[in-house]
Amino acid sequence: MKNALGILVATAGLTLAGSVLAAGLPSVGQHECAACHAVDHKVVGPAFKDVAAKYKGKKDAVATIAAHVESGGSFGWKLGVMPPRGLGASNADADVMAKFIVGLSK
Ligand code: HEC
Repeated sequence: MKNALGILVATAGLTLAGSVLAAGLPSVGQHECAACHAVDHKVVGPAFKDVAAKYKGKKDAVATIAAHVESGGSFGWKLGVMPPRGLGASNADADVMAKFIVGLSK
């Protein structure tokens, strides 16, 4: 009985970890981007999966997205203006996020 309970608790823990991962941004994204972005719904800025769809099949997608994250600005979403580097991301962070975003369309 004690074992069965342990397995139940472990399974619940795994399920929780799984769903956090599925929704998950790279940790830089949590700190610098999540105030305005989520993977699958619009917050202040567009859902990252919508950005992925916008750039799907473009060969310089990662470089373009990274450049936009670094420069900030407006990119046709009509949601406002994104601050350069979000809330303090480095260029390396922008690159990590650009790769993550492009990966969402695969
Ligand atoms: C203060 C809010 C805010 C933060 C923080 C923020 N963004 Fe944005 N972001 C926006 C808004 C608003 C837009 C849409 C601009 C427009 O209407 O075109 C946007 C657009 C984008 C786009 C679309 C670019 C394109 O070419 O279409 C990407 C990619 C993006 N953000 C990534 C990020 C990443 C990565 C971070 C964290 C490093 C981040 N954003 C942090 C507000 C934010």
